[in-house]
Amino acid sequence: MKNIISPSLKDYNTFHIDCRCKELLTVENDQDIDEVFQRKVFHQPYLMIGEGSNILFTKDFEGTIIRLATKGIEIVNEDDESVYVRAAGGENWSDFVRFTIEHELYGAENLIGIPGLVGSCPVQNIGAYGSEVKDIIYQVEGHYLPEGEPFVFYNDECEFAYRDSIFKNKLKDRCWITHVVFKLGKEKHFQLSYKQLAENLVSFGSELTLEKVADTVLKIRNSKLPDITKVGCAGSFFKNPVVSETKFAELSAKFDDLVHYPAPNGIKLAAGQLIEKCGWKEVRKGDVSVYPTQALVIVNWGNAKGFEVVEYYQEIIQSVQEKYGIRIEPEVRIV
Ligand code: EPU
Repeated sequence: MKNIISPSLKDYNTFHIDCRCKELLTVENDQDIDEVFQRKVFHQPYLMIGEGSNILFTKDFEGTIIRLATKGIEIVNEDDESVYVRAAGGENWSDFVRFTIEHELYGAENLIGIPGLVGSCPVQNIGAYGSEVKDIIYQVEGHYLPEGEPFVFYNDECEFAYRDSIFKNKLKDRCWITHVVFKLGKEKHFQLSYKQLAENLVSFGSELTLEKVADTVLKIRNSKLPDITKVGCAGSFFKNPVVSETKFAELSAKFDDLVHYPAPNGIKLAAGQLIEKCGWKEVRKGDVSVYPTQALVIVNWGNAKGFEVVEYYQEIIQSVQEKYGIRIEPEVRIV
């Protein structure tokens, strides 16, 4: 297992915040996983990261960081309608989506381009363009912390909700997801509820393919979202807020153009729109600003410190609270 003492974390988080941890362990295979448990790493302060694409470091981390880099994607089962694919937690998410496209398996294509790893996808139930990963997860496998007893959770045990799951709540910091088994469709079927995606694809009719959908998703993403490999950020910084019907009626009497969608427990609003309407597209502080075409994303344009991003995002929360009476919450993990 690779280990580095007191490394800079600048290249291990996509926000490119320069801070340090005591030790960085890189886990590449099952033997490394066993070694981490043998060394009792989880009995001291620790943090698990993937590509560091959903994290904001606000200070040095006084403990061990375990970076997950295990690889492997294989078809493990098949029935009349579905193919079951098991992927290692350290696989890059979009590489997994490309595997499904190459094997003509349906269900993951709208999620191409989301940063991060396979092992992180169930934690916040990643979603985009009308799809959520919960719709294709069959089971989640891993080890309980700190001792390493194995677990398997079937989909209905994962308590999936919008950007949420049991792994963020009851099991927060209590488990390590090492593999995810996905159930993908064999039959041609597309999810085109996202208006802009449907509009771009309507002309293909029955000629529509997985490649076309994935290409179009990537084009839409690139037109709004920064390239995380070039611009320091962590994707959507905030979650979209859900308000009650009553609150929504109050707000729409005052603001007539609110983007909104039905949600299981109320009405979901677009945090990006609320942030933009509070004027944040015009505000840069040092190297921190929102992204010009998507105010839901906060960007480090160079050498921003973690605390500067914290000050900036807290001011955003306050201004949305003052204008709309809604408290938006970070989606990104703040450490
Ligand atoms: N909007 C604005 N101004 C902005 C941003 C958005 O007015 O600065 C409006 C848009 O015009 C649109 C609405 O808000 O009418 C929604 O915008 P968009 O479709 O871009 O989606 P979103 O709700 O802002 C969510 C996800 C994204 C995902 C997109 C597309 C969350 C927190 N974010 O953003 O996920 O790519 O939908 O499905 O749910 C991520 O998680 O890192 C991420 C990028």
